[in-house]
Amino acid sequence: MKRVKLGINIDHVATVREARRIFEPDPVASARECIKAGCDSIVCHLREDRRHIKDADVIKLRKAVPVLNLEMSIARDIVDFACRIKPDQVTIVPEKRQEITTEGGLDVKKGEARLRQVVRRLHENGIDVSLFINPSIEQIDATIRVGARIVEFHTGKYAGADCSRDRKTQLDILKRASSYASAKSLTVNAGHGLNYDNVKPIAKILCINELNIGHSIISRAIFTGIKRAVKDMISEIK
Ligand code: PXP
Repeated sequence: MKRVKLGINIDHVATVREARRIFEPDPVASARECIKAGCDSIVCHLREDRRHIKDADVIKLRKAVPVLNLEMSIARDIVDFACRIKPDQVTIVPEKRQEITTEGGLDVKKGEARLRQVVRRLHENGIDVSLFINPSIEQIDATIRVGARIVEFHTGKYAGADCSRDRKTQLDILKRASSYASAKSLTVNAGHGLNYDNVKPIAKILCINELNIGHSIISRAIFTGIKRAVKDMISEIK
């Protein structure tokens, strides 16, 4: 049986480097180790404030890894940069300067006109486009209207649920949204807040193609090394 793919977000490696603003730890070297350990793609978020990943990292990653998924907003200079670098995939995320991490999904419905333009431009440059959205029918329908063929569902509410009842409710929402999106021929990915304890029920959702995970893997890597941390996650999602 085909296993769910694993994309690893390496932003935190760059965050540690930026604590000293020097050369180590190198996100590109960490990405190579993740690939050697068996993950399917590398994800990094080029934020507008460049607080962790820098343009130069993305340029090096493009050459160093077989599949690069660039998370980004639709700021004009970032879209221009993506069109020059041509990652395999772009995941469009909402971005607020003050946030610690990406809070919630894109409001595709609200930003439809601009998103349609950006999706078209990225496609014209040979880049697959995913939209990071909350698992709602309204947002899935808007994703289809703007022409994207991949969605990534924000799993933050599921991961942050504080009781098993709430977690089950959030899981059911994700299951329903996944079936709906898949029936509409979208590729379905998911991520945010997933860890070694909560990932299994999400990996079991039939139509999920890929999970994108960062924080929990990089956290474990401090104790086990990154290859072990990646392999442990792959065995959880098998
Ligand atoms: N997917 C997207 C679109 C994200 O923005 C993030 C966080 O950068 C992740 C997945 C990974 O989330 P986490 O670090 O909580 O695993």
